[in-house]
Amino acid sequence: MRKNMSITRDNFHSRIGFVLAAAGSAIGLGNIWAFPTNAANNGGGAFLVVYLIVTVLLAIPALFAEIYIGNQAQKNPVSALKEACQNSMPNIGKSAGLIGLVGAIMMLSFYTIVAGWMLAHSLSPLFQLLGFDELSLWLSTSSTERNLLFTPIFILLGAAIIHQGVNKGIERWSGRLMPILLIMLFGLIVYILQQPGAEQGLAVYLIPDFSQITDPKLIVSAMGQAFFSLSIGVGGMMIYGSYMEKDKDLGKLVLSIAALDTGIAFLAGLLIIPALFVAQHNGLQVFDDGELIGQGQLIFNILPTLFSSMGSMGLFVASVFFMLLSIAALTSTISSTEVPVGYLVEDKGFTRNKATWLISLIVLCASLTIIAFFDVLFGAVIRILTTIMQPLMCLFYFLVVGWIWQRGNKLTDKSLLDNKPWLKLWGNYLRYVCPILLTIVFVNVAILN
Ligand code: PHE
Repeated sequence: MRKNMSITRDNFHSRIGFVLAAAGSAIGLGNIWAFPTNAANNGGGAFLVVYLIVTVLLAIPALFAEIYIGNQAQKNPVSALKEACQNSMPNIGKSAGLIGLVGAIMMLSFYTIVAGWMLAHSLSPLFQLLGFDELSLWLSTSSTERNLLFTPIFILLGAAIIHQGVNKGIERWSGRLMPILLIMLFGLIVYILQQPGAEQGLAVYLIPDFSQITDPKLIVSAMGQAFFSLSIGVGGMMIYGSYMEKDKDLGKLVLSIAALDTGIAFLAGLLIIPALFVAQHNGLQVFDDGELIGQGQLIFNILPTLFSSMGSMGLFVASVFFMLLSIAALTSTISSTEVPVGYLVEDKGFTRNKATWLISLIVLCASLTIIAFFDVLFGAVIRILTTIMQPLMCLFYFLVVGWIWQRGNKLTDKSLLDNKPWLKLWGNYLRYVCPILLTIVFVNVAILN
């Protein structure tokens, strides 16, 4: 088993391999499905501004802290946090690791449902091309039956990859497919911006209404979205950090991951928000009382309409687009699944195979519960994870790096050793500013409102 783990760890001995895998984790449905939906629901441009501020001030430092802890400890998140808190409160460290693990399973429970929608939408145009119109319509219409079929398919796909370890194939895949996704995004943006109605969407997205910037609902959504998009707070990035050689120059790697992730989210907004307004211009009801209708399912109506306006070529574009989204979702699921799997293998003596199937089964049960009580649970699970659990885990990471680990500020100590004054500044930023800022935002926004 040890051998098994060290094989997995070896995967990221190259920095680029790590960046690709971590970017693969970060870039996913959060960017292309959740970000535009959240932005449209929260005033467009104002959301974008707050999102960027939160990303720079809090999310990037939190991503750094998470990867740093994993990289220093070279262990799965439960053991890593336990070790980091060894001197003062190992049990609290371990519990925090376990809470993160529950967060990873919560993430998987709704994420695999949405990823299933993507899969279904990628198949629908193909069946239409083959003349199976009824089947195609079924695949593109949301229903409980469709969820019951595609969520398990997606979980199985993820398990098939995970049980072999985070292999080179997926790294190479994300490296090749992400550029295609990027090119498609650009192409679609150019196309949509020429349609009537797009200009209004562009204005909503790019011209912030500053009066909305202090809206607590907006701030909390932007913060949750930023943490979710960078995959922070459930341990996925921590375990990837642990699979990389110790003490690499993490700062640059973290910045590249964040830049890739934020860039893709920005582009997705540039596509989807104008697309919503084009649809509205064409007579479709998009907003109800300022909120997007349909619990996040709206883009699945809007995008196919957009693709079908391109003629038969559009069917092909639609299929490839949703296929790429499914793959982007897969690389994100892999990092989350790796958290409980890594823990069971490393700490509990499971074989990789057994751990993968057990976790997949747990995720399946959780997903089925959400599908059964969709209206109540779907939004609630997302909200609890992104606006409560992830920010609190980030706060814990800041406290660990800034205060708890070796009873002091690990980064500042290191700056003395390495004679790097900027590292001291960075250490103090993580030690004082981040936890205070996060607490203020959290208490004011999440609790008092
Ligand atoms: N960051 C991923 C996305 O944007 C989601 C994710 C969250 C992945 C938490 C892993 C852990 O789609």
